[in-house]
Amino acid sequence: MEEKKRNSFAGSIGFVLAAAGSAVGLGNIWRFPYLAAKDGGGLFLLIYLILAVTFGYTLLTTEISIGRKTKQSPLTAYGVLNKKWNFLGVLACLVPFIILPYYAVIGGWVVKYFVAFLTGHGAEAATDGFFNGFISGGTLVDNYSGASGIFGQYESVAYMAIFMIATSLIIILGVNGGIEKFSMILMPILFLLVIGIAIFSLTIKGQAPDGVTRTGLQGLKVFLIPDFESITVKSFFTTVIDAMGQLFYSLSVAMGIMIAYGSYVKDEANLVKSVNQIEFFDTMVAVLSGVMIIPAVIVFMGPDGMSGGPSLMFVSLPKIFAAMGPVGNVVGALFFAMVLFAALTSSMSILEAIVSSLIDKFKLPRKAATIVESVIALILAVIVCLGYNKNALFFNIKLPNGSDAQILDIMDYLSNNITMPIVAIFTCILVGWVVKPKTIIDEAEKGGYKMGRKLLYKVMIRFVAPIMLIFLLLISLGIIKLD
Ligand code: PHE
Repeated sequence: MEEKKRNSFAGSIGFVLAAAGSAVGLGNIWRFPYLAAKDGGGLFLLIYLILAVTFGYTLLTTEISIGRKTKQSPLTAYGVLNKKWNFLGVLACLVPFIILPYYAVIGGWVVKYFVAFLTGHGAEAATDGFFNGFISGGTLVDNYSGASGIFGQYESVAYMAIFMIATSLIIILGVNGGIEKFSMILMPILFLLVIGIAIFSLTIKGQAPDGVTRTGLQGLKVFLIPDFESITVKSFFTTVIDAMGQLFYSLSVAMGIMIAYGSYVKDEANLVKSVNQIEFFDTMVAVLSGVMIIPAVIVFMGPDGMSGGPSLMFVSLPKIFAAMGPVGNVVGALFFAMVLFAALTSSMSILEAIVSSLIDKFKLPRKAATIVESVIALILAVIVCLGYNKNALFFNIKLPNGSDAQILDIMDYLSNNITMPIVAIFTCILVGWVVKPKTIIDEAEKGGYKMGRKLLYKVMIRFVAPIMLIFLLLISLGIIKLD
């Protein structure tokens, strides 16, 4: 049989935008700002930037180079570098397999909020109990109206399915016709929206429940200026660990995605430059999200508003849009459209990591591979949704640290806190000590491009990164306690 030519991105802009699309996601928009606020703003920002150009740079260069060198998807790529390391491919594919179902559930939440604001129901979306009512199909709150919901108890299932099916359709269209094309359209719109909303956020002025009137610029200070006086050794370490965990998740490394995308990059392309651009976009969107969200929260909710933590995006932000009056529906719709694009380009990449693996390993046609994995993810995602529904499968357990956990939280913990650090540690060992950093550096420099931070790369991949990652893993597992 004639060997089919591997798909590839037509241009390096397409690749950069697709990879940035994967990297820019809920992590940037929702997780980064609340971590920054929690860890004292400016200091977090500073540490994050330093880690991005050292630790992040190392991991991203490594994965994209492995992909391009082996021209294989994650499942088989590690085995090509060294036969004994096939197991790492299985482990790396496990991460997107676990993440996809719950990412689709959150994607569905975003679609729901987008629709609510677009149809002028923003005020309703801002009421107490709306979020819980929505995810539980009304079974956790008494008077949930569903904000014009037509799917009743299964509202969250329906929206998840819409998001999942959209993701699958794009992946069926392939690397060029799907991923690259959609990234080229969605990412520039996303950048414009982020910049526009960030500027808007700086111009607002309003009164918080504490009665104080503040401006957006005052809120910005909380985000940007480090409060050096209140830093303690412990808070410094917490900040470093938070920044590292965030960076790792934000760049979409340690789950095979960047290997899959790297395998579609042409040999002539300048890898070093692409890596820098991807990092730049990812970091810029994270920082701008802080500019977009933190001032708005401070103005409308006061300094305590930031303690909303994870619920910030679905609970606090709608309140802020509602407090803006009629214009809030428009700003809210634009905001959630932007979040939706960010989530969609990320979920595409998660699905692609698995689909490309099924294609390479089992020689399945793309369409069949996509349908198989999408159906599995859809079924798991329905279970995740129904875990919140008292009349269906209500599910609530306590995690070892005492917090309440849902199926979604458990999947998130398993993938992000345990499997991803393990994959990254093994990748560092494989590259640093078995196949040697030179293999990656040569690949990155293919075509005569110079890689600038070579010595840094070698030291990072062999020593610093694995040690930091082991530390991160031990903290995640609760073996080392920071407090
Ligand atoms: N990197 C994405 C973000 O910052 C999240 C993501 C996780 C994307 C897993 C793909 C896979 O939100």
